[in-house]
Amino acid sequence: MKASAVADANIALVKYWGKRNKKLMLPHNSSISMTTDGLSTLTTVEFDKKYKEDIFILNGNKFKKGSEEYDEYIGVFLNFVREFSKINLKVKIVSQNNFPSTAGLASSAAGFAALATAINKSLNLGLSQTELSILARRGSGSATRSIFGGFVEWKKGEREDGSDSFAEQIVPSGYWPEFKMIIGITSKKEKKIKSRAGMAQTVKTSPYYKVWLESVNEDLKKVKEGILERNFPLVAKTAEENCLKMHALMMTARPSVIYWNKGTIEIIHSVLNWKGEGLETYFTIDAGPQVKILCLEKDIDGVRKRLRDIENLKDIIITKPGRGVRIAEKHLF
Ligand code: DP6
Repeated sequence: MKASAVADANIALVKYWGKRNKKLMLPHNSSISMTTDGLSTLTTVEFDKKYKEDIFILNGNKFKKGSEEYDEYIGVFLNFVREFSKINLKVKIVSQNNFPSTAGLASSAAGFAALATAINKSLNLGLSQTELSILARRGSGSATRSIFGGFVEWKKGEREDGSDSFAEQIVPSGYWPEFKMIIGITSKKEKKIKSRAGMAQTVKTSPYYKVWLESVNEDLKKVKEGILERNFPLVAKTAEENCLKMHALMMTARPSVIYWNKGTIEIIHSVLNWKGEGLETYFTIDAGPQVKILCLEKDIDGVRKRLRDIENLKDIIITKPGRGVRIAEKHLF
């Protein structure tokens, strides 16, 4: 049966950066994110004997077996799905993002959350939200969190088989609609180092990885508490510090992993200056050059006005806490 699902990207406030098990996609630490509103992926899947080989089309581009994108991401995931569901049919997958792919905007998170959900419906697997979160994790770690809306925690879990490594909603999207994220796009190019490779290099070579793991639990506690109390400075300041710690790890990997460009640095300096001008603004940055500015509704106009003076800014997207994954009636083929 043909089935479609929509999922939104999520942006981490406490980052996931490093795997303790690469095959099962198990993280070294828990993480917390906000599911965005409107940075969506729509995916349609159909398993059928009429397909002689798997077909995967993302944003109009066909990815073939043998390419890195296909083999390392979708190919591994589909093999796992067939093994797990005991269904041996080939599949056609068409997926469309409404935002730039692979430039540090969590496209794989939305992509695998939508894909897992569409597969669940199409194969009639009857998976619960928790099981979907575990399935999405096998595609991309951060996808485990995009199953849920609002603010979400991915619990790293302790078990070797990964059965306790899944996401849980902290609060739904309606709990804190004043929480805003302004995504400053500083480059629309594909990034050179994928998160997967960047994090593996960091875990292996950064002398500070151990220090990161020692401090991350405190960040998780503060961000979770801040979300529940709607304490903006507690959440946003901790998120900014956590992001800088993650980038310090990347920079101290050998060879170093640096995702920032001059626009990234220009926005960082601006956000830091705005604090002195009375705006309550903070930032977070993922494995890419885009800067996500965190602020409350009351400061949105002030930020937008000031963003006009940033030279190396290509575009902005304003988002807020959004919904979890859902089935779509519209099919892409
Ligand atoms: C910096 O989930 O893209 O965005 O699990 O290898 O697919 P894989 O990596 P991915 O990494 C996301 C890294 C991050 C932080 C985060 O989202 O928590």
